[in-house]
Amino acid sequence: MEATARAHTNIALIKYWGKRDEKLFLPMNSSLSITLDRFYTTTKVAFDSALKADVFFLNGKPAIDAETTKISRFMDKIRAFAGEKRYAYIESQNEVPIAAGLASSASGMAALAAAAVKALGIEVDGRTLSILARQGSGSACRSIYGGFVEWQKGEKADGSDSHAVPLLSEDDWDLSILSCLVESKQKKVSSREGMKRTVSTSPFYKAWLETVETDLAAAKSAIAARDFTMLGRVLEANALKMHATTISANPPFLYWQSATLDVMQEVALLRERGIEAYFTIDAGPNVKVLCERKDEETVYHALSAIPSVREVLVCHPGPGIQYGPF
Ligand code: PMV
Repeated sequence: MEATARAHTNIALIKYWGKRDEKLFLPMNSSLSITLDRFYTTTKVAFDSALKADVFFLNGKPAIDAETTKISRFMDKIRAFAGEKRYAYIESQNEVPIAAGLASSASGMAALAAAAVKALGIEVDGRTLSILARQGSGSACRSIYGGFVEWQKGEKADGSDSHAVPLLSEDDWDLSILSCLVESKQKKVSSREGMKRTVSTSPFYKAWLETVETDLAAAKSAIAARDFTMLGRVLEANALKMHATTISANPPFLYWQSATLDVMQEVALLRERGIEAYFTIDAGPNVKVLCERKDEETVYHALSAIPSVREVLVCHPGPGIQYGPF
């Protein structure tokens, strides 16, 4: 009645931005991501009939109440799926740099779903696991698979066709993803709140929806053809378009800080020098820069030299769900 699973975090190239169903975590649009090798969560789940509530340890310490509540709510969904009544001991270890503003919810919820289902001895396929993980955090559904992954938004009201599908494995196209960590003092608007506000108030949100599926199709063609220029152009434009919906929301909000712009400008300079690099930004100030492996060192040095960048972490495509012991 105990199992351990590991999931890696992912970075969206075509963004998931906006929910059509808040409870089931159903997205307005399909999205596409790369699972990263460097950042992951390892979670052990043990069900125990003596427990009166779930007990959650994060990085070796009892988690704060808000975290435990969030985890326990997700466990309720897993219990409902499995027809299980017992509570569980949950121990998570996050290999995501502290305060790096890198989302650990994707790897966290994916690892928890996989470990809990395994602990209950239930055999599930990737699609079912992806549907479960999605209900912990939308982007978690993509972390079930390694490499390049598409989350198909689905059409059904019950969410049974809203799940990830693998496009290319982590060994099929070895790109470099450089994660630039910048100083951040500002309290951020959560992705949940950010999505809600832009969907209901941004006049640009309609344009986002009208064009995102075309971006996705272009990204998929580029991936199939290993066409880095085509992929880079569409992923950068898609990220900027997502952020345009936040700037135009009411009240408006902006995830960027001045250091975010420093990185964006350096990427433009690299391209002027003939080095192909493209950026993407999620619901925070950090920037992820993509390049081909042959340019990794040059891009790393250029980004590391930016005074407002604290650290540059080099990642590559990583694996899907793995089961322990580790
Ligand atoms: O699933 P969440 O709540 O972590 O939302 C993810 C939102 C973005 O990171 C901005 C985009 C994405 O597709 O991951």
